[in-house]
Amino acid sequence: MKAKLLRFGVSLDGELLRKFDAFISAEGYDNRSQAIAGLIRKEFITDSFAHGGPVAGAVTIVYDHHRREVVNKLLDIQHDHGGIIISAQHVHLDHDNCLEIVAVKGPGAKVKALADALKSVKGVKHSTLSVTSAGK
Ligand code: NI
Repeated sequence: MKAKLLRFGVSLDGELLRKFDAFISAEGYDNRSQAIAGLIRKEFITDSFAHGGPVAGAVTIVYDHHRREVVNKLLDIQHDHGGIIISAQHVHLDHDNCLEIVAVKGPGAKVKALADALKSVKGVKHSTLSVTSAGK
């Protein structure tokens, strides 16, 4: 069931509102209401992640294809965190580099522990964790 939309008034100083409208335009939001809702949700996700609450996300890793011990180590870590991994996609970026995208869903603390473990493997060139709503 779709939640009922409610209206409320917001007062901002003119300079802040001018910057907000520029932000809305740059980010491609249709209107202020949509932008405010997006910022509130983003803040809730950040807060949930910080407190170990449920999140979904993706860990993206780039590593040296020629170092086979890196591949094995990354696989071992993923097997140890199977409970929060939804899927993993491997992309052969070029002759030397592999890109791996690991989709995750679970408590923020466990997601972070997995991302940290993958990031710290010797031979991983770069790694990012992108966190979003778990859907609730
Ligand atoms: Ni590859």
